[in-house]
Amino acid sequence: MYYPDELVEEVRMKNDIVDVISGYVRIQKKGSSYFGLCPFHNEKSPSFSVSQSKQMFYCFGCGAGGNVFTFVMQYENYSFQEAVKFLADRAGVNLPEMEYGEEAKKRESQRARLLEVNKEAAKYFYYQLRSERGQAGYQYLRKRELSDETIKKFGLGFANVTSDDLVKYLKSKGYEDKLLTEAGLAGFDEKYGMHDKFWNRVMFPIQDSNHRVIGFGGRVLGDAKPKYLNSPETMIFDKSRNLYGLNFARTSRAGNIILCEGYMDVIAMHQAGFTQAVASLGTAFTAGQANLLRRYATEVILAYDSDGAGVTAALRAIGILKEVGLTGKVLNLEPYKDPDEFMKNLGREAFEERIKQAENSFFFELRMLQRDYDLSDPESKTRFHREIAKKLCGFSEEVERENYIEAVAQKYHIGFDNLRKLVRSYAAQTGLAVPASRPKSGIQKKSDPEENKKKPQKLLLTWLVEEPAAYQKIKRYISPSDFTEDLYKKVAEKLFADLDGGRLNPAAIISQFTDEEEQREVAGLFNTKLMELESRADREKAFHDIVLAVKRNSLDYFSSQLGADVSAINQVIEGKKALEELSKTHISLD
Ligand code: UTP
Ligand code: MN
Repeated sequence: MYYPDELVEEVRMKNDIVDVISGYVRIQKKGSSYFGLCPFHNEKSPSFSVSQSKQMFYCFGCGAGGNVFTFVMQYENYSFQEAVKFLADRAGVNLPEMEYGEEAKKRESQRARLLEVNKEAAKYFYYQLRSERGQAGYQYLRKRELSDETIKKFGLGFANVTSDDLVKYLKSKGYEDKLLTEAGLAGFDEKYGMHDKFWNRVMFPIQDSNHRVIGFGGRVLGDAKPKYLNSPETMIFDKSRNLYGLNFARTSRAGNIILCEGYMDVIAMHQAGFTQAVASLGTAFTAGQANLLRRYATEVILAYDSDGAGVTAALRAIGILKEVGLTGKVLNLEPYKDPDEFMKNLGREAFEERIKQAENSFFFELRMLQRDYDLSDPESKTRFHREIAKKLCGFSEEVERENYIEAVAQKYHIGFDNLRKLVRSYAAQTGLAVPASRPKSGIQKKSDPEENKKKPQKLLLTWLVEEPAAYQKIKRYISPSDFTEDLYKKVAEKLFADLDGGRLNPAAIISQFTDEEEQREVAGLFNTKLMELESRADREKAFHDIVLAVKRNSLDYFSSQLGADVSAINQVIEGKKALEELSKTHISLD
């Protein structure tokens, strides 16, 4: 199922990273690297660097990084295999037909056919909207204050009143009945035969983040039910892993994402210039969608309807965002029902203002919780405070928890010490606070003890990439098994093998990992910020300290494994000896 390593490497070498990235980002040469504004986060001064000699990119702001494949995967939202294919085409490298089994081949062609027929249907609806028969639909959209430009940008269309003209059209193009029903564009019954699923509705094509049409939402023109009819899930339409508007939002670089409930909200936002707006697809917001957003922003602003259902949905979304490590904020749209209405009545500047005032999601949760309690009754008030304390236990990080306790105490007029005591007692009772599992972000807090262990290992790997000659000086003390993080160890194994063979090719090491998140982390290992030290003595001292720290951490690790791991004893003996020698040895860097 994978392309052979040599071929992947050939494709990589034929696509110079500076050339490829220049096609997407304006970069300028500065010293030995190129710099530009990072396309993966919002920034004003360039911290995105591309190294021609290393064939890697790295952003010192957000930690995005990797080789040319990683860049394309991230920018185009491709899988590793898709990125290889894309760059092979670009460089004119012939790839063998992937060694698919029969089954996989069928699946691939079925996917391609589904994409094709959806695109054809979207074109048909688009054309209908502009025809005589589509005037009702066109007038409806205009009445909702959408400009022609917006209608075009979102590819809006119309399914007219006849109940089988799309079927007829697609069949005339050679698409078979089975495909039309599988795509959810048509249904079949005994009495009427093949018939369109959508009729007399304005059509919203739903695109994946590469602008490919994967399904539709259709809205009735009046008040009939259901208001929106959506395509069913298909092989290409996974409602929990796509978001309406993300194809535009992902390059908006606003620094945040605005999450709305409806298609019309998204469109109204984009029309007003808020191109970072997205919505889920007629279903509740999911963890898969939150993970998708994590690639494009760290802050998500919820712009859900201000009714009861909207609040419930917002509370659920906040929990989901928190789980993947995103910060949520909640917009207040009062007195309007949703972003679309708000925009029509108060306009973009007022909306901008509301974004600035968006409420921290924790305070929003408390405010909603408070509605169930009567604060004039001491009994009820106490219960409310207990609930608050329980919720505060959810912050696993001490500093964050303390900050929230302080803020909550002030806001709800609770004594700080009392609240803190209450939180502690709940934390003790329930075994909280459990650390929420945070995804790797590339940016870590300095005081984190885990990070203190990792840092020297990262520094050493970067140093060896920057200055391969240093490897000879340390190879008798350090081996890949001294790297106590699994990923670091794997990288060290490859890097040390390369260095032993007298070649250095960090970008090729990155392609050995096909997961975008791992590639990013590996790139981070090769791009740790080294201190800029002038004198050779200072540099030698720094290097010595790093090597010592790596060895010491390894010794600690294996000592803790004694009893659990039989090979640990050898590592410990070897480690002690090496440390002793190292502390007496001067490592020269010449
Ligand atoms: P809304 O009713 O808030 O939609 O439902 P909206 O986009 O604001 O619609 P307008 O402004 O009245 O035209 C929010 C979302 O829920 C889904 C759709 O995805 C819609 O955009 N929905 C709603 C359905 O899937 N089916 C329905 O019948 C209603
Ligand atoms: Mn709405």
